[in-house]
Amino acid sequence: NNFVVIMAGGIGSRFWPVSKSLYPKQFLDLFGTGKSLIQSTYQRFSEIVPVENIFIITHESHLEILKEQLPSVSDNQILAEPIMRNTAPCIAYACHKIKAINPEATIVVSPSDHLILDEKNFNESIIKALDTASEEDRLITLGIRPSRPDTGYGYIQYLDGSAKEEFKKVKTFTEKPSLEIAKTFLQSGDFLWNSGIFIWSAKSIIKALGKYVYELNEIFAEGERHLNADTEKQFIALAYQRCPNISIDFAIMEKADNVYVLPVTFGWSDLGTWSSVYDLAEKDFSGNLSIPSKNVMFYDSKNCMVSVKKEKLVVLQGVDNLIIAESDNVLLIIPRDQEQNLKQILTDVKSKH
Ligand code: GDD
Ligand code: MG
Repeated sequence: NNFVVIMAGGIGSRFWPVSKSLYPKQFLDLFGTGKSLIQSTYQRFSEIVPVENIFIITHESHLEILKEQLPSVSDNQILAEPIMRNTAPCIAYACHKIKAINPEATIVVSPSDHLILDEKNFNESIIKALDTASEEDRLITLGIRPSRPDTGYGYIQYLDGSAKEEFKKVKTFTEKPSLEIAKTFLQSGDFLWNSGIFIWSAKSIIKALGKYVYELNEIFAEGERHLNADTEKQFIALAYQRCPNISIDFAIMEKADNVYVLPVTFGWSDLGTWSSVYDLAEKDFSGNLSIPSKNVMFYDSKNCMVSVKKEKLVVLQGVDNLIIAESDNVLLIIPRDQEQNLKQILTDVKSKH
């Protein structure tokens, strides 16, 4: 009864210029391993559930690249969204569809673009959570020990009951707090980051959707007969027009009173920036990283990160601490410690080009 939903709707502007809306981060091989992030995610879950129980949900415009990267996934396992409405509608659609297939389903909902370092530990945590979710009416998330006051995450405060109880009851869930609040959360020491990996039964998530975002849930509850039928595509085209734009974190996780967190230690990163990839990747003895690995010749250069097209040869002489990244028509050169300026640069680029 175990199912997986991989959410692959991101547009990934932070990995500009390599990741753009046509080619978002989940489809990139950021570490030069020969596998994109979504291919690695799919492979990870195929060790845990039967492959025919893995569903992938993405925007229509990414169907082609998705099928190219995961050719063994059947059409019925690929859910296409006509418009992006954030994760709540995406999860409502996928979980109603799975419930129509198997009302007793337990479901892992996972992002497609995260890095997991210790896969054995990851598998154990997921299986433990699936077991619990199949027995109890719980909305489970995996929690990460925070290392900085990052405002891009959900913060989870939990009740530290008995040490025996691995799943901690969540007291408060705060999605993307301000920097000041994030700092106090970090200092207090009893908060975890939300990993964005959720585990629940189809029944529990649909019950919660019905309670906290009734109208959204009704769209898919009323249309359930179209899911897995010939009329699915037409139904979804109209259904999405009526969906609010809201994330699952704001819609459900901040509000529900049956949220539990499993603190995990499997080495996790959501690879939010070039630097986060640089930090985690294996570098040469001078701290240089190049993707693909054989394309770059480094002379008297250190701590650089280069991501270029595979037919290109790049030579660096006497430069340090740079990010160099190219796409078809853009070349970016920026010091690693100024990467935060990319956001502003990108707004300028969009207004000028
Ligand atoms: N199919 C589909 N449709 N996928 C989507 C959509 C959508 O409309 N919106 C987002 N996704 C996918 C993204 O591709 C990503 O894999 C995942 O859902 C999470 O979306 P993000 O947009 O990356 O969310 P976030 O990073 O701002 O915040 C979430 O993740 C954090 C951890 O990385 C939240 O759950 C936070 O609480 C959490 O800390
Ligand atoms: Mg994210």
